[in-house]
Amino acid sequence: MPKVTFVRRDGSVIGEKMVEDGENLRYAALDYDKDVPIYCHLFKLANCHGNGLCGTDRVMVSPATAVNPRTVAERIHLRKKPNLRLSCQVEIHGDCTVTTMCGRR
Ligand code: FES
Repeated sequence: MPKVTFVRRDGSVIGEKMVEDGENLRYAALDYDKDVPIYCHLFKLANCHGNGLCGTDRVMVSPATAVNPRTVAERIHLRKKPNLRLSCQVEIHGDCTVTTMCGRR
């Protein structure tokens, strides 16, 4: 079972969670009992619920080899941000650190 470490943009650790191989990162974060700020501000309510359409659930995943390659939706929404991923498009296959893009700096 891969271990995901959730980190805020300021580097502070939110917590660690064990997930199933292939588990979706968005759901792993939203189902976690600690508050992982996947969405910023209004987008907590106004998002596409994991369909790869809104581009609002941006995170940084390290190492990139622990997850699936970028999807078509990510290549469209993040074409100028090669270090970011959309959490709803990410399948977790190995231990990784996920940095959220909103919240405290
Ligand atoms: S939730 Fe909309 S792109 Fe991921």
